[in-house]
Amino acid sequence: MTFKDFYQFASPTRVVCGRELLASAGFEFAKQGAERVLVVTDQVIRATGLVEKVEGGVADGGLEVAGIFDDVPQDSDTAVVTRCAEQAMEAGADSFLAVGGGSVIDTTKGANVVFSHGGAIPDWEGVFQLPRERDGMGRPLPLAPLGAIPTTAGTGSEASPVAVIKDSERGVKVLLLDFPLAPDLAILDPESTATLPAPIAAATGMDALTHAIEGVTSTEWSPHGDAHALHALRLISDNLERAVGDTSDEDARGNMLVAANLAIAPTGFGATGITHSMSHPCGARYGVPHGVANAINLPPVIEFNAVVSEEVADQFRDAAEVLGVDARGGGQRIGRTLADHVRELRGRLGLPGRLSEVGVPEEGISRLAEDAMGEGSTLVNPRQPSEEDFVELFQQAL
Ligand SMILES: [Fe+2]
Repeated sequence: MTFKDFYQFASPTRVVCGRELLASAGFEFAKQGAERVLVVTDQVIRATGLVEKVEGGVADGGLEVAGIFDDVPQDSDTAVVTRCAEQAMEAGADSFLAVGGGSVIDTTKGANVVFSHGGAIPDWEGVFQLPRERDGMGRPLPLAPLGAIPTTAGTGSEASPVAVIKDSERGVKVLLLDFPLAPDLAILDPESTATLPAPIAAATGMDALTHAIEGVTSTEWSPHGDAHALHALRLISDNLERAVGDTSDEDARGNMLVAANLAIAPTGFGATGITHSMSHPCGARYGVPHGVANAINLPPVIEFNAVVSEEVADQFRDAAEVLGVDARGGGQRIGRTLADHVRELRGRLGLPGRLSEVGVPEEGISRLAEDAMGEGSTLVNPRQPSEEDFVELFQQAL
């Protein structure tokens, strides 16, 4: 295996994982310096009773619940972030606890930036744009403590230094990436995904699978990233179908929470690929759920990437072996075998197999290809695609 000329890695979020941890939410969050907590969630999660349990846990740990912001929609945006930050200020909160999926956690990260540093989300757009100013004592100004309790097993946002927030005025998704954005605390407890509907468990699980495969094969791969991603693949292989097939299987749900948390680690340092480049515009333009788009786009991308070099074929072989897929042969064969494995898994999970089934029209492809070319993930894909390549890939996925 090649020795990399350069890479960096950190996994700064403290992960607390196990059963019956919601009752300890306050005990754990107090260790991060939280005192008056704004709980951020959505109305679907709130209706399950999960938030009440977390509230009880926060109070049991000696913390105060300053308020509950439960107004995060499925596809959150900058206006929601501003309202959430305003509620935190009005309530005198000093910390945030997100209880929800990727949209809730990303909204909370954005609200924390506005709460802690002022301005609005577009002011902090980009990579490493958070202020490095210091207070009167010369200490770096931090963000307020942020904890996250994921209620889906897929996005990994509870441990990533990234927030993606829609700017409805400009019609674009704003990306914020900076180390302080990684939550201070993530609580992984299978009780949090007990009411997750099977189709969402399936789609978000395929997002985690995509993070892991792209993490291993990206130009930004690293040995540290592989250690996380390959174990994530092992857990996904053993648990995703179980968790979707029987939503009462607590072990499988718990293992999927761990898998999603592990799989996100390489992406925090840019180890992604063009499955994400294709799926982001499918979401932005046609509202295709992120995990569904990845599940459809991943197989043709694997076949496209696996033939680029022997080194990349080896990386796909590593992933295939962990997934229990026959990893013999050259790049073309391993690409085909692994892609077929993903297609079959997707079918068994009951997910759609074509973009045309989820609202993407053929005449939209040229625009999607153009968008995909401009995505940051394209730069770190193991094979550099042209716009025509993207048109071809979208056509295969259509
Ligand atoms: Fe993703």
